Amino acid sequence: MKLNTGIAEKNRKAVAAALAQLLADEFCLYVATRGAHWNVKGAAFGALHLFFENQYETIDEILDDVAERMRALGVDAPASIGAYAKAQSIKDDAGALKSAPQMIASLLAAHESIIRFLRKASEIADEVDDSASEDFLVSLIAQHEKMAWMLRSHLE
Ligand SMILES: [Fe+2]
Repeated sequence: MKLNTGIAEKNRKAVAAALAQLLADEFCLYVATRGAHWNVKGAAFGALHLFFENQYETIDEILDDVAERMRALGVDAPASIGAYAKAQSIKDDAGALKSAPQMIASLLAAHESIIRFLRKASEIADEVDDSASEDFLVSLIAQHEKMAWMLRSHLE
């Protein structure tokens, strides 16, 4: 069905393309954070196991919202591991790393990369007057900055 919401199709597609890139990276970060939850070892196991669980639950909600924002723009969301792997721009090796600090540093780098991308993506939405997508993307900056702060605090 054709959308008549005041944003030209090519502009909706441009924002959706940024959302598709974001969805791939959010999914990879979700998997990496689950990997850290499963494989972390050491004296702080209990606390870190729960900490990573809280983070992947937040990321799970974010990636669902990203995909559903694409649908609201009239574009199908990529929905296969292959599509995510092809588009992925972050490292998702946290679950395979040896120590908790290495896992945390890898996840932190991924969050920071996503935060930098979100700044660009929110500008793309702003340029085409898609204020709902812009607001949504800006709200994700705050959510990722909070998760990044919590990760970073383990390393200081
Ligand atoms: Fe679990």
